[in-house]
Amino acid sequence: MRAGAPIDRRPLEQQIADIITADGLEPGAAFPSASSLAEQFGVSRPTVTKALEKLETAGVLAGGEDKAGCGPSALCQRERSVCRLPTLTEWAYPLAESLLAEPLPRRWEHCLGVAERARTIALILGQNADLLEAAAVLHDIGYAPKLAKTGFHPLDGARYLREVADADARVINLVAHHSCSWLEADARGLREELEGEFPRESADLNDALCYCDMNTTPDGIPTNPIDRINEITGRYGPDSLIGKFIRRAEPEILGCTSRVFERVAAAKRQPM
Ligand SMILES: [Fe+2]
Repeated sequence: MRAGAPIDRRPLEQQIADIITADGLEPGAAFPSASSLAEQFGVSRPTVTKALEKLETAGVLAGGEDKAGCGPSALCQRERSVCRLPTLTEWAYPLAESLLAEPLPRRWEHCLGVAERARTIALILGQNADLLEAAAVLHDIGYAPKLAKTGFHPLDGARYLREVADADARVINLVAHHSCSWLEADARGLREELEGEFPRESADLNDALCYCDMNTTPDGIPTNPIDRINEITGRYGPDSLIGKFIRRAEPEILGCTSRVFERVAAAKRQPM
């Protein structure tokens, strides 16, 4: 890891799974050994082995047999191969990191924090938990200098995902419409472009992403929407375009957040 680089807070198995996308490994390809991964990630081999076993259980890797001629030695290594391509989340993290971590490290921390919030509400997301976490980690990539074209980050980010990254349409649409972006689009005269190019996903998913963003500080720490809105207003100034947008969006942001809280509470009340 580079000195001063943000700490990768994701579980080790997710970091290891990134190798499949980063190295372009196809299903059936041999996967790096536990020893080489232990060296690469600076952890012990038993720790890596546990992470690899989780990837086997998840079906990302296929566990092979012990190498031929290998006895019950501690140095014995199983040969694993790639079983399937990574999930949306496994794909999204390295992409977001490659765009944000270096030019905008604080923004990257924020995106990691928003993704972390997404994991905390997985209970109400069901099959969409992976989709929402992927959209969460990518939601602000439009700020990356090489993507910023219009200066309106939801539109710039969504266009990049569609035109360059060949992303899943649902991820693109969530990024395009995150956190009441249509209100900012209105102020910028871009609402027609935004809504003409990108359909909205379900209200529940848009609420969930807004909740995650508005409950995370610029440094990625959990917060609440009132403090978050005040922080944004203070940072940009109350009379700025963003300052006015966020005040106009406040009732909708608070509505999103309370709807998510209600859904989480209801899910927790359900008998297991
Ligand atoms: Fe954000």
